[in-house]
Amino acid sequence: MIRKPIKLAVIGGGSSYTPELVEGILKRTNSLPITEIHFVDIEAGQEKLDIIEALVQRMVLKANANIIVKASLDRRTAIKDADFVMTQFRVGGLQARANDERIPLKYNVIGQETTGPGGFAKALRTIPVILDICKDIEELAPNAWMLNFTNPAGLVTEAILKYTNVKTIGLCNVPVAMTMMIAEMMQCSTRDLSLEFAGLNHLVWVHQAWLNGKNIMVDILEKIADGANFSMNNIFEEPWDPDFIKALGAIPCPYHRYFYQTEEMLTEEKYAAQNEGTRAEQVMLTEKDLFKLYQDPNLADKPKELEQRGGAYYSDASLNLMDAIVNNLNTINVVNVRNNGTISGLSDDVVIECSAIVGSWGARPLAVGELNPEVSGLIHQVKAYEQLTIEAAVHGDYNKGLIALVNHPLVGGITQAKEILDDILRTNRDYLPQFK
Ligand code: G6P
Repeated sequence: MIRKPIKLAVIGGGSSYTPELVEGILKRTNSLPITEIHFVDIEAGQEKLDIIEALVQRMVLKANANIIVKASLDRRTAIKDADFVMTQFRVGGLQARANDERIPLKYNVIGQETTGPGGFAKALRTIPVILDICKDIEELAPNAWMLNFTNPAGLVTEAILKYTNVKTIGLCNVPVAMTMMIAEMMQCSTRDLSLEFAGLNHLVWVHQAWLNGKNIMVDILEKIADGANFSMNNIFEEPWDPDFIKALGAIPCPYHRYFYQTEEMLTEEKYAAQNEGTRAEQVMLTEKDLFKLYQDPNLADKPKELEQRGGAYYSDASLNLMDAIVNNLNTINVVNVRNNGTISGLSDDVVIECSAIVGSWGARPLAVGELNPEVSGLIHQVKAYEQLTIEAAVHGDYNKGLIALVNHPLVGGITQAKEILDDILRTNRDYLPQFK
Protein backbone atom coordinates (compact mmCIF):
# COMPACT_ATOMS: atom_id res chain seq x y z
CA MET A 1 0.00 0.00 0.00
CA ILE A 2 1.37 3.44 -0.89
CA ARG A 3 0.69 5.67 2.04
CA LYS A 4 0.05 9.34 1.79
CA PRO A 5 2.68 11.57 3.44
CA ILE A 6 1.47 13.00 6.75
CA LYS A 7 1.67 16.61 7.83
CA LEU A 8 1.54 17.10 11.59
CA ALA A 9 0.92 20.41 13.35
CA VAL A 10 1.84 20.63 17.05
CA ILE A 11 0.24 23.49 18.96
CA GLY A 12 2.34 24.27 22.00
CA GLY A 13 5.43 22.99 20.21
CA GLY A 14 7.80 24.74 22.65
CA SER A 15 6.73 22.35 25.41
CA SER A 16 9.55 20.62 27.25
CA TYR A 17 7.74 17.34 26.44
CA THR A 18 8.25 17.73 22.67
CA PRO A 19 11.44 15.58 22.49
CA GLU A 20 9.35 12.70 23.89
CA LEU A 21 6.91 13.11 21.02
CA VAL A 22 9.67 13.33 18.43
CA GLU A 23 11.40 10.25 19.81
CA GLY A 24 8.11 8.39 19.32
CA ILE A 25 7.80 9.67 15.76
CA LEU A 26 11.33 8.61 14.90
CA LYS A 27 10.71 5.14 16.34
CA ARG A 28 7.82 4.70 13.93
CA THR A 29 9.11 6.03 10.61
CA ASN A 30 8.38 2.62 9.01
CA SER A 31 4.70 2.70 9.82
CA LEU A 32 3.99 6.44 10.00
CA PRO A 33 5.17 8.44 6.96
CA ILE A 34 5.27 11.83 8.69
CA THR A 35 7.07 14.12 6.26
CA GLU A 36 6.41 17.51 7.82
CA ILE A 37 6.06 18.65 11.42
CA HIS A 38 5.14 22.25 12.08
CA PHE A 39 5.58 23.33 15.70
CA VAL A 40 3.64 26.42 16.74
CA ASP A 41 3.79 28.52 19.86
CA ILE A 42 2.92 32.00 21.06
CA GLU A 43 5.28 34.96 21.30
CA ALA A 44 6.03 34.40 24.98
CA GLY A 45 7.22 30.90 24.05
CA GLN A 46 9.53 31.94 21.22
CA GLU A 47 12.77 31.22 23.05
CA LYS A 48 11.67 27.74 24.09
CA LEU A 49 10.36 27.07 20.60
CA ASP A 50 13.74 27.99 19.07
CA ILE A 51 15.56 25.63 21.42
CA ILE A 52 13.11 22.82 20.68
CA GLU A 53 13.33 23.39 16.94
CA ALA A 54 17.11 23.12 16.95
CA LEU A 55 17.04 19.97 19.10
CA VAL A 56 14.38 18.35 16.89
CA GLN A 57 16.44 19.15 13.78
CA ARG A 58 19.41 17.36 15.37
CA MET A 59 17.24 14.38 16.36
CA VAL A 60 15.83 14.08 12.84
CA LEU A 61 19.28 14.39 11.28
CA LYS A 62 20.74 11.74 13.57
CA ALA A 63 17.88 9.37 12.74
CA ASN A 64 18.37 10.11 9.05
CA ALA A 65 14.64 10.66 8.76
CA ASN A 66 13.02 12.39 5.86
CA ILE A 67 11.04 14.96 7.85
CA ILE A 68 10.81 18.70 7.25
CA VAL A 69 10.77 20.49 10.59
CA LYS A 70 9.22 23.94 10.82
CA ALA A 71 8.63 26.13 13.85
CA SER A 72 6.77 29.42 13.91
CA LEU A 73 4.21 31.61 15.64
CA ASP A 74 1.95 31.27 12.61
CA ARG A 75 -0.78 28.91 13.72
CA ARG A 76 -2.83 29.16 10.54
CA THR A 77 0.06 28.16 8.26
CA ALA A 78 0.87 25.27 10.56
CA ILE A 79 -2.71 24.03 10.53
CA LYS A 80 -3.29 24.50 6.81
CA ASP A 81 -3.73 21.06 5.18
CA ALA A 82 -2.47 19.23 8.26
CA ASP A 83 -3.53 15.59 8.54
CA PHE A 84 -3.10 15.59 12.31
CA VAL A 85 -3.11 18.43 14.81
CA MET A 86 -1.77 17.77 18.30
CA THR A 87 -2.51 20.21 21.08
CA GLN A 88 -0.25 20.33 24.13
CA PHE A 89 -0.30 23.94 25.27
CA ARG A 90 -0.75 25.54 28.68
CA VAL A 91 -2.51 28.91 28.80
CA GLY A 92 -0.63 31.08 31.31
CA GLY A 93 2.30 28.69 31.52
CA LEU A 94 3.52 27.01 34.67
CA GLN A 95 2.91 30.12 36.76
CA ALA A 96 -0.82 29.77 36.13
CA ARG A 97 -0.58 26.10 37.13
CA ALA A 98 1.22 27.06 40.34
CA ASN A 99 -1.65 29.46 41.13
CA ASP A 100 -4.15 26.68 40.41
CA GLU A 101 -2.35 24.49 42.91
CA ARG A 102 -2.01 27.16 45.60
CA ILE A 103 -5.43 28.85 45.54
CA PRO A 104 -7.47 25.82 46.70
CA LEU A 105 -4.93 25.05 49.43
CA LYS A 106 -5.76 28.44 51.02
CA TYR A 107 -9.28 27.11 51.52
CA ASN A 108 -8.20 23.67 52.68
CA VAL A 109 -9.06 21.99 49.39
CA ILE A 110 -6.85 19.80 47.14
CA GLY A 111 -4.81 22.01 44.79
CA GLN A 112 -3.98 20.00 41.67
CA GLU A 113 -3.29 20.65 37.99
CA THR A 114 -6.37 18.80 36.69
CA THR A 115 -8.35 17.55 39.68
CA GLY A 116 -10.61 19.86 41.69
CA PRO A 117 -10.65 23.66 41.51
CA GLY A 118 -7.16 23.73 39.93
CA GLY A 119 -8.42 21.77 36.94
CA PHE A 120 -11.53 23.95 36.91
CA ALA A 121 -9.41 27.11 36.58
CA LYS A 122 -7.32 25.50 33.87
CA ALA A 123 -10.49 24.58 31.96
CA LEU A 124 -11.77 28.17 32.14
CA ARG A 125 -8.51 29.45 30.66
CA THR A 126 -8.13 26.72 28.06
CA ILE A 127 -11.54 26.09 26.52
CA PRO A 128 -12.00 29.46 24.74
CA VAL A 129 -8.48 29.20 23.28
CA ILE A 130 -8.96 25.67 22.03
CA LEU A 131 -12.33 26.52 20.48
CA ASP A 132 -10.58 29.29 18.63
CA ILE A 133 -7.92 26.88 17.35
CA CYS A 134 -10.74 24.60 16.22
CA LYS A 135 -12.18 27.39 14.08
CA ASP A 136 -8.87 27.42 12.20
CA ILE A 137 -8.98 23.64 11.81
CA GLU A 138 -12.57 23.74 10.53
CA GLU A 139 -11.50 26.27 7.92
CA LEU A 140 -8.00 25.15 6.97
CA ALA A 141 -7.85 21.41 7.62
CA PRO A 142 -11.43 20.14 7.94
CA ASN A 143 -10.40 16.51 7.53
CA ALA A 144 -7.63 16.60 10.09
CA TRP A 145 -7.72 14.53 13.24
CA MET A 146 -7.06 16.56 16.35
CA LEU A 147 -5.37 14.58 19.09
CA ASN A 148 -5.82 16.52 22.27
CA PHE A 149 -3.56 16.29 25.32
CA THR A 150 -4.34 19.70 26.64
CA ASN A 151 -5.56 19.34 30.18
CA PRO A 152 -8.03 18.79 31.66
CA ALA A 153 -8.07 16.52 28.62
CA GLY A 154 -11.48 14.85 29.01
CA LEU A 155 -13.32 18.06 29.74
CA VAL A 156 -11.55 19.96 26.96
CA THR A 157 -12.30 17.18 24.46
CA GLU A 158 -15.97 17.31 25.46
CA ALA A 159 -16.05 21.07 24.84
CA ILE A 160 -14.56 20.55 21.36
CA LEU A 161 -17.03 17.81 20.47
CA LYS A 162 -19.98 19.88 21.73
CA TYR A 163 -19.04 23.19 20.18
CA THR A 164 -17.15 22.41 16.95
CA ASN A 165 -17.12 20.05 13.98
CA VAL A 166 -13.51 19.04 14.48
CA LYS A 167 -12.78 15.31 14.57
CA THR A 168 -11.07 14.95 17.89
CA ILE A 169 -9.88 12.25 20.24
CA GLY A 170 -8.60 13.08 23.73
CA LEU A 171 -5.56 11.30 25.07
CA CYS A 172 -3.72 10.65 28.26
CA ASN A 173 -0.65 8.74 29.34
CA VAL A 174 -2.25 7.43 32.55
CA PRO A 175 -3.74 4.29 30.95
CA VAL A 176 -0.37 3.59 29.27
CA ALA A 177 1.40 3.97 32.62
CA MET A 178 -1.20 1.80 34.42
CA THR A 179 -0.80 -0.93 31.81
CA MET A 180 2.98 -0.84 32.23
CA MET A 181 2.71 -1.02 36.03
CA ILE A 182 0.26 -3.94 35.87
CA ALA A 183 2.60 -5.77 33.47
CA GLU A 184 5.45 -5.21 35.91
CA MET A 185 3.38 -6.56 38.81
CA MET A 186 2.35 -9.61 36.84
CA GLN A 187 5.83 -9.99 35.32
CA CYS A 188 4.45 -10.20 31.83
CA SER A 189 4.57 -8.20 28.65
CA THR A 190 1.98 -5.44 28.16
CA ARG A 191 1.01 -7.26 24.96
CA ASP A 192 -0.23 -10.26 26.91
CA LEU A 193 -2.67 -8.21 28.98
CA SER A 194 -6.28 -7.39 28.15
CA LEU A 195 -7.58 -4.57 30.30
CA GLU A 196 -11.01 -2.96 30.31
CA PHE A 197 -10.61 0.74 31.07
CA ALA A 198 -13.66 2.90 31.71
CA GLY A 199 -14.29 6.14 33.55
CA LEU A 200 -13.30 9.73 32.97
CA ASN A 201 -9.91 11.24 32.26
CA HIS A 202 -7.83 11.14 35.46
CA LEU A 203 -10.73 9.21 36.99
CA VAL A 204 -10.44 5.96 35.10
CA TRP A 205 -10.64 2.48 36.56
CA VAL A 206 -9.65 -0.90 35.16
CA HIS A 207 -12.77 -3.00 35.61
CA GLN A 208 -11.62 -6.28 34.10
CA ALA A 209 -8.17 -7.74 33.51
CA TRP A 210 -7.01 -10.91 31.82
CA LEU A 211 -3.64 -12.48 31.25
CA ASN A 212 -3.46 -15.29 28.74
CA GLY A 213 -7.18 -15.91 29.09
CA LYS A 214 -7.19 -15.91 32.91
CA ASN A 215 -9.09 -13.28 34.85
CA ILE A 216 -6.41 -11.66 37.04
CA MET A 217 -8.40 -8.88 38.76
CA VAL A 218 -8.08 -10.46 42.19
CA ASP A 219 -4.32 -10.97 41.76
CA ILE A 220 -3.78 -7.34 40.78
CA LEU A 221 -5.95 -5.96 43.57
CA GLU A 222 -4.04 -8.09 46.07
CA LYS A 223 -0.70 -6.82 44.79
CA ILE A 224 -1.86 -3.20 45.00
CA ALA A 225 -3.22 -3.83 48.49
CA ASP A 226 0.20 -5.27 49.40
CA GLY A 227 1.88 -2.02 48.30
CA ALA A 228 3.03 -2.72 44.73
CA ASN A 229 4.17 0.43 42.93
CA PHE A 230 1.11 2.08 41.44
CA SER A 231 1.60 5.78 40.96
CA MET A 232 3.05 8.32 38.56
CA ASN A 233 5.96 10.72 39.01
CA ASN A 234 3.66 13.67 39.60
CA ILE A 235 1.41 12.06 42.22
CA PHE A 236 2.40 11.34 45.80
CA GLU A 237 2.20 7.60 46.38
CA GLU A 238 0.06 7.39 49.49
CA PRO A 239 -0.30 3.62 50.12
CA TRP A 240 -3.77 2.22 49.46
CA ASP A 241 -5.77 0.78 52.33
CA PRO A 242 -5.92 -2.99 51.62
CA ASP A 243 -9.53 -3.35 52.82
CA PHE A 244 -10.62 -0.46 50.65
CA ILE A 245 -8.92 -1.78 47.52
CA LYS A 246 -10.55 -5.17 47.93
CA ALA A 247 -13.95 -3.60 48.62
CA LEU A 248 -13.68 -1.35 45.57
CA GLY A 249 -13.14 -4.34 43.28
CA ALA A 250 -11.81 -2.12 40.48
CA ILE A 251 -8.29 -0.86 39.89
CA PRO A 252 -8.20 2.89 40.56
CA CYS A 253 -5.91 5.23 38.66
CA PRO A 254 -3.26 7.18 40.58
CA TYR A 255 -5.45 10.33 40.52
CA HIS A 256 -8.18 8.56 42.48
CA ARG A 257 -6.05 9.13 45.55
CA TYR A 258 -7.31 12.72 45.61
CA PHE A 259 -10.89 11.48 45.98
CA TYR A 260 -10.44 8.42 48.15
CA GLN A 261 -7.53 9.58 50.35
CA THR A 262 -8.30 13.27 50.41
CA GLU A 263 -7.01 14.08 53.89
CA GLU A 264 -3.67 12.37 53.40
CA MET A 265 -3.14 13.94 49.98
CA LEU A 266 -4.09 17.39 51.29
CA THR A 267 -1.65 17.08 54.17
CA GLU A 268 1.11 16.11 51.77
CA GLU A 269 0.28 18.97 49.37
CA LYS A 270 0.34 21.52 52.18
CA TYR A 271 3.68 20.21 53.36
CA ALA A 272 5.13 20.37 49.86
CA ALA A 273 3.76 23.88 49.29
CA GLN A 274 5.59 25.06 52.43
CA ASN A 275 8.82 23.21 51.72
CA GLU A 276 9.93 22.07 48.25
CA GLY A 277 7.08 23.89 46.48
CA THR A 278 3.94 22.70 44.72
CA ARG A 279 4.33 20.32 41.77
CA ALA A 280 4.32 23.22 39.27
CA GLU A 281 7.01 25.00 41.25
CA GLN A 282 9.12 21.84 41.27
CA VAL A 283 8.49 21.35 37.56
CA MET A 284 9.67 24.93 36.86
CA LEU A 285 13.10 23.93 38.19
CA THR A 286 13.13 20.65 36.24
CA GLU A 287 12.20 22.61 33.10
CA LYS A 288 15.10 25.02 33.56
CA ASP A 289 17.49 22.07 33.72
CA LEU A 290 15.83 20.38 30.76
CA PHE A 291 16.07 23.45 28.53
CA LYS A 292 19.73 23.82 29.51
CA LEU A 293 20.30 20.24 28.36
CA TYR A 294 18.29 20.82 25.17
CA GLN A 295 20.64 23.66 24.21
CA ASP A 296 23.65 21.37 24.10
CA PRO A 297 24.59 21.23 20.40
CA ASN A 298 25.79 17.66 20.89
CA LEU A 299 22.46 16.44 22.19
CA ALA A 300 20.44 14.64 19.53
CA ASP A 301 18.20 12.37 21.64
CA LYS A 302 15.49 12.72 24.25
CA PRO A 303 17.40 13.07 27.53
CA LYS A 304 16.58 10.50 30.24
CA GLU A 305 15.83 13.35 32.65
CA LEU A 306 12.55 14.01 30.82
CA GLU A 307 11.23 10.75 32.21
CA GLN A 308 11.00 12.38 35.65
CA ARG A 309 7.96 14.24 34.39
CA GLY A 310 4.47 12.87 34.91
CA GLY A 311 3.80 12.79 31.18
CA ALA A 312 6.41 10.15 30.37
CA TYR A 313 5.27 7.83 27.56
CA TYR A 314 2.62 10.20 26.26
CA SER A 315 4.07 9.74 22.79
CA ASP A 316 3.07 6.07 22.96
CA ALA A 317 -0.52 7.07 23.64
CA SER A 318 -0.64 9.53 20.75
CA LEU A 319 1.45 7.77 18.12
CA ASN A 320 -0.03 4.31 18.65
CA LEU A 321 -3.35 6.00 18.08
CA MET A 322 -2.13 7.78 14.95
CA ASP A 323 -0.68 4.49 13.70
CA ALA A 324 -4.02 2.74 14.27
CA ILE A 325 -5.92 5.44 12.36
CA VAL A 326 -3.47 5.79 9.48
CA ASN A 327 -2.90 2.06 9.01
CA ASN A 328 -6.44 0.98 9.94
CA LEU A 329 -5.03 -1.36 12.57
CA ASN A 330 -8.26 -1.80 14.55
CA THR A 331 -6.23 -2.20 17.72
CA ILE A 332 -7.48 -1.38 21.21
CA ASN A 333 -6.38 1.97 22.60
CA VAL A 334 -7.63 3.96 25.58
CA VAL A 335 -9.16 7.22 24.40
CA ASN A 336 -11.42 10.10 25.40
CA VAL A 337 -14.47 10.04 23.17
CA ARG A 338 -18.23 10.59 23.22
CA ASN A 339 -19.99 8.14 25.47
CA ASN A 340 -22.68 7.17 22.94
CA GLY A 341 -24.13 4.53 25.24
CA THR A 342 -20.82 2.96 26.26
CA ILE A 343 -21.41 3.53 29.98
CA SER A 344 -25.14 3.28 30.67
CA GLY A 345 -26.60 6.08 32.71
CA LEU A 346 -24.32 8.79 31.32
CA SER A 347 -25.60 10.97 28.48
CA ASP A 348 -24.52 10.10 24.95
CA ASP A 349 -22.82 13.45 24.36
CA VAL A 350 -20.49 13.47 27.36
CA VAL A 351 -16.86 12.42 26.97
CA ILE A 352 -15.58 9.36 28.78
CA GLU A 353 -12.20 7.63 28.85
CA CYS A 354 -12.41 4.02 27.76
CA SER A 355 -10.94 1.19 25.73
CA ALA A 356 -11.86 1.51 22.08
CA ILE A 357 -11.13 -0.14 18.76
CA VAL A 358 -9.20 2.33 16.68
CA GLY A 359 -8.93 2.22 12.91
CA SER A 360 -9.48 4.53 9.98
CA TRP A 361 -13.03 5.06 11.29
CA GLY A 362 -11.62 6.71 14.42
CA ALA A 363 -12.32 5.23 17.83
CA ARG A 364 -15.26 2.90 18.54
CA PRO A 365 -15.61 2.34 22.29
CA LEU A 366 -16.10 -1.14 23.71
CA ALA A 367 -19.45 -1.33 25.50
CA VAL A 368 -19.22 -1.29 29.29
CA GLY A 369 -22.87 -1.18 30.35
CA GLU A 370 -23.89 -0.26 33.84
CA LEU A 371 -21.17 0.52 36.38
CA ASN A 372 -21.34 -0.92 39.89
CA PRO A 373 -22.49 1.33 42.73
CA GLU A 374 -18.91 1.04 44.09
CA VAL A 375 -17.79 3.47 41.38
CA SER A 376 -20.88 4.96 39.76
CA GLY A 377 -21.61 7.69 42.34
CA LEU A 378 -18.24 9.35 41.90
CA ILE A 379 -18.27 9.27 38.11
CA HIS A 380 -21.74 10.81 37.91
CA GLN A 381 -20.85 13.59 40.30
CA VAL A 382 -17.59 14.46 38.58
CA LYS A 383 -19.24 14.34 35.17
CA ALA A 384 -21.91 16.81 36.31
CA TYR A 385 -19.12 19.11 37.52
CA GLU A 386 -17.41 18.77 34.12
CA GLN A 387 -20.55 19.56 32.13
CA LEU A 388 -21.20 22.66 34.22
CA THR A 389 -17.57 23.76 33.96
CA ILE A 390 -17.71 23.63 30.17
CA GLU A 391 -20.77 25.87 30.16
CA ALA A 392 -19.09 28.28 32.57
CA ALA A 393 -15.96 28.37 30.39
CA VAL A 394 -17.75 28.84 27.08
CA HIS A 395 -20.25 31.47 28.21
CA GLY A 396 -18.30 33.16 31.00
CA ASP A 397 -21.20 32.23 33.26
CA TYR A 398 -20.49 32.88 36.95
CA ASN A 399 -23.49 30.92 38.20
CA LYS A 400 -22.56 27.85 36.18
CA GLY A 401 -19.04 28.10 37.58
CA LEU A 402 -20.40 28.31 41.10
CA ILE A 403 -22.71 25.34 40.74
CA ALA A 404 -19.90 23.38 39.04
CA LEU A 405 -17.66 23.85 42.05
CA VAL A 406 -20.45 23.18 44.56
CA ASN A 407 -20.99 19.87 42.77
CA HIS A 408 -17.33 18.90 42.88
CA PRO A 409 -16.75 16.15 45.47
CA LEU A 410 -13.61 17.87 46.77
CA VAL A 411 -15.29 21.22 47.46
CA GLY A 412 -17.14 21.67 50.76
CA GLY A 413 -20.16 23.81 49.99
CA ILE A 414 -21.44 27.15 48.77
CA THR A 415 -19.24 29.40 50.94
CA GLN A 416 -16.08 27.54 50.09
CA ALA A 417 -17.01 27.30 46.41
CA LYS A 418 -17.69 31.05 46.23
CA GLU A 419 -14.44 31.98 47.92
CA ILE A 420 -12.45 29.73 45.61
CA LEU A 421 -14.31 30.83 42.48
CA ASP A 422 -13.81 34.52 43.26
CA ASP A 423 -10.14 33.95 43.96
CA ILE A 424 -9.71 32.02 40.68
CA LEU A 425 -11.48 34.73 38.67
CA ARG A 426 -9.40 37.48 40.34
CA THR A 427 -6.08 35.73 39.90
CA ASN A 428 -6.74 34.67 36.31
CA ARG A 429 -8.34 37.94 35.21
CA ASP A 430 -5.98 38.38 32.25
CA TYR A 431 -6.75 34.93 30.89
CA LEU A 432 -10.52 34.99 31.29
CA PRO A 433 -11.91 37.61 28.91
CA GLN A 434 -15.21 35.69 28.75
CA PHE A 435 -15.96 36.70 32.37
CA LYS A 436 -15.45 40.43 31.82
C1 G6P B 1 0.39 12.95 34.13
C2 G6P B 1 -0.89 13.36 33.48
C3 G6P B 1 -0.73 14.56 32.63
C4 G6P B 1 -0.08 15.64 33.41
C5 G6P B 1 1.27 15.18 33.91
C6 G6P B 1 1.92 16.21 34.81
O1 G6P B 1 1.12 12.28 33.25
O2 G6P B 1 -1.48 12.33 32.78
O3 G6P B 1 -2.00 14.95 32.20
O4 G6P B 1 0.05 16.79 32.66
O5 G6P B 1 1.15 14.01 34.63
O6 G6P B 1 3.26 15.92 34.97
P1 G6P B 1 4.25 17.02 35.55
O7 G6P B 1 5.58 16.40 35.49
O8 G6P B 1 4.08 18.24 34.72
O9 G6P B 1 3.78 17.26 36.96
